[in-house]
Amino acid sequence: MTQYILALDQGTTSSRAILFDHEGKIAGCAAQEFPQHFPQPGWVEHDPNEIWNSQLTVARKVLQDFDVKKVRAIGITNQRETTVVWDRKTGEPIAPAIVWQDRRTADYCEELRAAGKAKMICEATGLELDAYFSATKVKWILDHVPGARERARKGALCFGTIDSWLAWKLCGVHVTDVSNASRTMLFNIHLMRWDSDLLALFDIPEGMLPQVVSSSEEVGVTREALFGHAIPVAGIAGDQQAATFGQACHQPGMVKNTYGTGCFMLMNAGRHPRTSHNRLLSTVGWRVDGETDYMLEGSVFMGGATVQWLRDGLGIIQHSSEVEALAGSVPDSGGVFLVPAFVGLGAPHWDPYARGAIVGLTRGSNKAHIARAAVESIAYQSAELLAAMQKDASMPVTEVRADGGAARNDMLMQFQSDLLGVPVLRPKVTETTALGAAYLAGLAVGFWESQEEIARQWACERRFTPAMGDDQRAQLLAKWKRATERAKAWET
Ligand code: G3P
Repeated sequence: MTQYILALDQGTTSSRAILFDHEGKIAGCAAQEFPQHFPQPGWVEHDPNEIWNSQLTVARKVLQDFDVKKVRAIGITNQRETTVVWDRKTGEPIAPAIVWQDRRTADYCEELRAAGKAKMICEATGLELDAYFSATKVKWILDHVPGARERARKGALCFGTIDSWLAWKLCGVHVTDVSNASRTMLFNIHLMRWDSDLLALFDIPEGMLPQVVSSSEEVGVTREALFGHAIPVAGIAGDQQAATFGQACHQPGMVKNTYGTGCFMLMNAGRHPRTSHNRLLSTVGWRVDGETDYMLEGSVFMGGATVQWLRDGLGIIQHSSEVEALAGSVPDSGGVFLVPAFVGLGAPHWDPYARGAIVGLTRGSNKAHIARAAVESIAYQSAELLAAMQKDASMPVTEVRADGGAARNDMLMQFQSDLLGVPVLRPKVTETTALGAAYLAGLAVGFWESQEEIARQWACERRFTPAMGDDQRAQLLAKWKRATERAKAWET
């Protein structure tokens, strides 16, 4: 009897549900975009109920063609850092979710930096002091929703990232896994527990925090009414860590890059946190069978979302899939560079005040050059991440595994390999985020036996090898650097 694992992949712009069989192949899939809210410049919000409804809808949709009793477990993977606070009794959110891209707490982060707090934050959490992470977002909600801090002190409120929110809605438990906890800027990655000094610094009552669990263990079963049958939720990981697991980067030194809303390059750093000297993040990958794997991470805030902007903001394409043809209709960007610092810049710059820029325009520039520059910007930003990683790592990186929606763009993958100077490998299953969550859940319930068994399922669909000369690469990267400098500190 064929059995399955269901992965719920709650991303920044869409909710997906994917059913995997024992071979790691996709048996069913449903996806739904949900509304983004931009109430002020620099603010990005989601409605937690819209997130839940879209996630439930796609889960039910994918299950309608299958016998629910054949689903052995559910794995949750999610956009990370996005912050939800809800009432423990009613389950109702007390404010919109503040999305990871939201910059409203940037000034507060600057105050903390001026007060000399960046070092202690980085030492405990492995993170850069930045508005990206959950801590300042929780504090913002507690500061701005009348009576919220008092209610939180009394234990009447719950804080959670999206994994917590979904686990709560699915099974009524208040948990988060170690990988998501490590993105809150409240979790000590050395001691693997909430950090009391940081809770005091941000004035966040400990009683509102979820219980931290491992990435591969049963945390509860779904309420019967949801799917007509109780299914164990047995795996949780942040989407980037899940993608790294799904790419079978289980050994130290292995690197993957996900081309989603943003771009996130993670290197397996082994069993101890690796301190970055090049402004990368040191973060928890996953905890499985009592062993924690740590990662080095470079986070770029605008990846595929840049293409979305060509579609929704500029209107020069109707569908994101048209970008490859438009960008490919010119031999190069004609000297145009687009720096997509729409929500500031992440690693390795960490400049919340940077804003988007298009430079190098001439009378001959047209929309195809801009489209090409947009696609290339994704590769340039990722190249900066790998350069930083190469400096931090003790061994050279010999290949990068690629996944996410934009990894289907051959032109981008080739240009990426050209800029990196190493092969870029695209796996047969590019839904590695969902696959990673399925693997984590499946390991917990014995659906898969071991990480070795999982690693054997990874298969390469196409290998892109560098075809650009060293001089040309150096020239392009130098120009990109100049373009980036122009986008920095724009808002100050
Ligand atoms: O840290 C943010 C990240 O988890 C968002 O991922 O896939 O929605 O771009 P994605």
